[in-house]
Amino acid sequence: MTNAENAAEPQSGEALCAFAPEGLLAELTHRCPFQCPYCSNPLELDRGSGELSTDAWLSVFDQAADMGILQVHLSGGEPSARKDLEQIVERCAKRGLYSNLITAGAPLTQARLAKLAELGLDHVQISIDDVEPQNADRIGGLRGGHQKKLDAARWTRELGLPLTINAPLHRSNIHNLEPMIEAAVELGAVRFEAANVQYYGWAFLNRAALMPTYEQALWSADVVERARERLKGVMVIDAVVPDYYAKRPKPCMGGWGRGIINITPTGKVLPCHAAETIPGLAFDNVTERPLLDIWLNGAAFNAFRGTEWMQEPCRSCAFRDIDFGGCRCQAMAMTGDPAATDPACEFSPHHAAFTAAAQQEAAASPPDFVYRRIRSAARRPQGEADALIGGEGGRGSE
Ligand code: SF4
Ligand code: FES
Repeated sequence: MTNAENAAEPQSGEALCAFAPEGLLAELTHRCPFQCPYCSNPLELDRGSGELSTDAWLSVFDQAADMGILQVHLSGGEPSARKDLEQIVERCAKRGLYSNLITAGAPLTQARLAKLAELGLDHVQISIDDVEPQNADRIGGLRGGHQKKLDAARWTRELGLPLTINAPLHRSNIHNLEPMIEAAVELGAVRFEAANVQYYGWAFLNRAALMPTYEQALWSADVVERARERLKGVMVIDAVVPDYYAKRPKPCMGGWGRGIINITPTGKVLPCHAAETIPGLAFDNVTERPLLDIWLNGAAFNAFRGTEWMQEPCRSCAFRDIDFGGCRCQAMAMTGDPAATDPACEFSPHHAAFTAAAQQEAAASPPDFVYRRIRSAARRPQGEADALIGGEGGRGSE
């Protein structure tokens, strides 16, 4: 089908787009008091001074609702660093968009969360780094950060909002997966995500410091299976599989230009959060072109939409409409060709080297974390983490 055929004529009260994506990920800001080394934000973080205005964001959500998008994920960085989060949540509720606040719990306050609930916030997602506070704070790069997350989770449940606990898993915390699941149950979460780190942005830079062993990955998959069985009817458990040890790739973003729209703090409209790592793609800005037009006709969205762009082995593969050839950004990062088969796929000629690199990194001593920071990607010795947490890194902005 052509884009023109897909674009339905707008009818009063109907969505403007017959194949609108289900979700919109709004990276409201890159500012964040945490400095997680597994962050998927780009290394070149957007500064606060370049962020979209309140009116521009409100227009984005109006357009999303008109298109027929159902869910918005208010993310970052830390979305509560935006002073206008209340206006944004209120507009989403008024326009019938299901809003999910993806927060690290700071600088969010109890009063502010209560106000957001009153204005119509639908759901809260909070990530935890460990059950051991000291290790959690070391990973997140913010002294007291773990307690802030627990507080925010407790407030969420006290307000009667559904809570998802997300656990980004890597070699520094994967051993505590079982107690992290228990902690999520105690916090009253309806959903737990065992999210093996995906290696984009800062996570890719820190890959050797984060990569678990194959045995750890297998063990964690077993823990998830057993917990799913045990917690049926109590808490749903989702798993993001560790790409590097998989046989088949994930259908990244639900397929390029198919499942989701990502908008950066400065208004760039991307098919996925890491799309800017693919050279030669031109990205439209939501301040310059209507969102629907970008979605239907934007060059970046059409670059890898559907299956026409595929090369072998994807082109003639039975799974091509299931996983859409995997992840374009991972193909770019690992093979230099964004149209190549994701090397996470066992049919990729790069698969063996891809897995071997992970196993080698996991077997070696972990290098120091490079903490996520706005100013630079300068490597910091892990021994300096204590000085870093609660120091400059905890300021929460530029
Ligand atoms: Fe998916 Fe391509 Fe691998 Fe087939 S060859 S399983 S379509 S990534
Ligand atoms: Fe870009 Fe997977 S992160 S396609």
